[in-house]
Amino acid sequence: MSSTVAAESGAEKAFYLTTPIYYVNDAPHIGHAYTTTAGDVLTRWHRQRGEKVWFLTGVDEHGTKVQRAAVAGGVTPQQWVDNLVENEWLPVLQTVDAANDDFIRTTEPRHAERVQRFWEQVREHGFVYSAPYEGPYCVGCEEFKFAADLVPGTGEYEGQQICPVHGRPCEQLQEENWFFQLSAFTERLIAHYEANPEAIQPRSAYNEVMSFIRGGLADISMSRSSVSWGIPVPWEPSQVIYVWFDALLNYATAVGYGTDPSSPEGEQYANTWPADVHLVGKDILRFHAVYWPAMLMAAGAPLPRKVFAHGWLLVGGEKMSKSKLTGIAPSQIIDHFGSDAFRYYFLRAIAFGQDGSFSWEDMSARYTSELANGLGNLASRATAMVGRYCEGILPAATANGEAERALQELLVSTAANADAAMVALDFSTGITAVKEFIEAVNGYVTEQEPWVLAKDPADRARLETVLYTICESLRAVAVLYNPLMPKKMQDLWGQLGADGLGALAEQRIDGVAVWGQLPVGVSVTKGDSLFPRLEDTP
Ligand code: MSP
Repeated sequence: MSSTVAAESGAEKAFYLTTPIYYVNDAPHIGHAYTTTAGDVLTRWHRQRGEKVWFLTGVDEHGTKVQRAAVAGGVTPQQWVDNLVENEWLPVLQTVDAANDDFIRTTEPRHAERVQRFWEQVREHGFVYSAPYEGPYCVGCEEFKFAADLVPGTGEYEGQQICPVHGRPCEQLQEENWFFQLSAFTERLIAHYEANPEAIQPRSAYNEVMSFIRGGLADISMSRSSVSWGIPVPWEPSQVIYVWFDALLNYATAVGYGTDPSSPEGEQYANTWPADVHLVGKDILRFHAVYWPAMLMAAGAPLPRKVFAHGWLLVGGEKMSKSKLTGIAPSQIIDHFGSDAFRYYFLRAIAFGQDGSFSWEDMSARYTSELANGLGNLASRATAMVGRYCEGILPAATANGEAERALQELLVSTAANADAAMVALDFSTGITAVKEFIEAVNGYVTEQEPWVLAKDPADRARLETVLYTICESLRAVAVLYNPLMPKKMQDLWGQLGADGLGALAEQRIDGVAVWGQLPVGVSVTKGDSLFPRLEDTP
């Protein structure tokens, strides 16, 4: 278990995972849902390891991008964000079936007050000064760019330097700002990451960050004087805090940073911070692995334990994005395949940390072969046979042999391998381990031929043993796949008559391979097909 005891209160520290907070300039697409889904699967997994868990997601509401979207929409920024949060960003959590513990909005007073307190503190520590800024700014990234960040444009931008993420030239800024003295942290960050190489993953992300830091860090604006939609700089309220230096703080403010240590919020902070994992897309790695820890160092707060940078969902070889009109809404996929298949597909088909392309054909093919024909077919065969041969009552296994022992052993290694992979955020390997176990159980059914055993009363004990073995294997699959596919595994749990074992979400990963948990005599029912065959893709 990765949980540790929080020194201040003696309470168990939560495994604390965050997603980035999403810009509410527009509605969510599957690239956003991808990060949230990964976070949800991982936190459900840790809960089933018996750990205390805190899962935070939310929205980033300030900045130029949101302000301009509101102006274009003919409403105030507050009206714009209220509408999108209510009608798009909160509902998408239901759509993907996320069980987050909190949802932070950066327009909330709890956030704004604590952000101001944080920057007061950093200023008192001597790391903030006033100076003019002049240089390129990408509104899409909400980022002050360096010459080395830009690439030569082509087509209509031939001869100009453009942002490689947004494919457009930057705006040229010239304004009086407050600066954060990032340069003071170059050596401390290098020392921190040399001592804690696991703090940035995957390895390619670690190398990228280290080479950026080793190149030397320049001071960076922490305020904007030409933007009005943001949190006022406490000592100069005509300026607002630069949107990233407001947004990054959500991870700490949401769990009570800057509150009285003896208050409930202060106790939550002591038992939750630092974050165990910040999940981020690779495009926002520098903010999370360079600026954010430097800010925390400047304030004297503990650093997050790990930043994991995942890849992009691509369309036509480019990052899917609303601004390029390539965004697919999660509901477009989920209305057809369901939330469980969505969660399964994106974490199984794309190695976490690498880019991947979504295609309807690939999703349909995997749905049919792995979910409908693989797990779904196994579950419906098992429940149907218990119905047909045992009147729906789970029989006892009284004639175990080699084949049963082999499956029991395979379950032990499956659970161990899946656990090791999942806690390392190698979702694809973890899922594949369970999928291979399902294939082995399907192979066992084919070899044992229970429909043949059912014909001869002399084979009754073997028939019952085979049926018990299949159902008990499915019990373990329901537990191991519950973090990934909570709705369908709940259905399976009900079909197996496993409710007497307690709630599915409370079944422990570390106990899943103990054989023989499904009680003999429970009612097994053939319900609706878990993964019905689907006709055409939409
Ligand atoms: N608001 C900032 C994050 C602030 S966190 C303190 C932001 N927002 S975002 O809405 O643009 O992106 C949020 C997350 O969605 C990022 O991790 C980003 O990588 C992810 N994705 C956006 N498009 C994506 C894909 N096409 N594919 C995968 N993830 C993508 O950045």
